[in-house]
Amino acid sequence: MKLQAVLFDLDGVITDTAKYHFIAWKQMAERIGIEIDSEFNESLKGIERMQSLERILIHGHQEQKYSQAEKERLAQEKNEEYVALLANLTPEDTYPGINELLQELRENNIPTVIASASKNAPLILEALQLKSYFHGIVDPGGIPGKPEPDIFLKAAEQVGADPMCCIGIEDSQAGIEAIKAAGMYAVGIGEENILGPSGADIVYPSTRELALQRLLVAAHLE
Ligand code: BG6
Ligand code: MG
Repeated sequence: MKLQAVLFDLDGVITDTAKYHFIAWKQMAERIGIEIDSEFNESLKGIERMQSLERILIHGHQEQKYSQAEKERLAQEKNEEYVALLANLTPEDTYPGINELLQELRENNIPTVIASASKNAPLILEALQLKSYFHGIVDPGGIPGKPEPDIFLKAAEQVGADPMCCIGIEDSQAGIEAIKAAGMYAVGIGEENILGPSGADIVYPSTRELALQRLLVAAHLE
């Protein structure tokens, strides 16, 4: 079978914005008296904004404390902080190996789509000057978030690809579960002991390891 599309998560795969999400959530949580550490943060990766807030409130036993309007306010504050941290993002912040892989995919006419839960994806791709490399960016609004398969299925649909002939690349447990639920080949970026149990077909420690030929061999695709 031929590879029909490569579907990329954004935060933590294309660039290190996962760390800015963590910083912004940590600061917001501290303001309301909740401590979050990097281990708990693994359960926030890939999770949509309001859902992430719910998880933090549950973690701090404050799930009953705020009205919907107050929760929206907290999420908005986090986002403002996050967007401020993005202000210094430049093309140099693209993870190693990503530009080379995108170039290779372009030369081989393999479509690429951004399958991120983030509403800030267009802004980030603009700052990294990578927009022209992608055939689409899934709008995560109004569809179930990761670990449901919808974001990845929509990404495949945008370029008319059969999910079975797609490779998804993710740094989060929820994202790996989403790729597998979509019936695709799941490449994890990070630690085997974190992403392996979620079902990653292969885990690379860094985006440096990503190369088209290597992915094709691993996924048994042509
Ligand atoms: C995901 C991140 O890519 O996007 C999550 O891994 C984040 O941490 C989610 O909460 C939503 O992002 P945003 O930018 O819409 O708040
Ligand atoms: Mg991610």
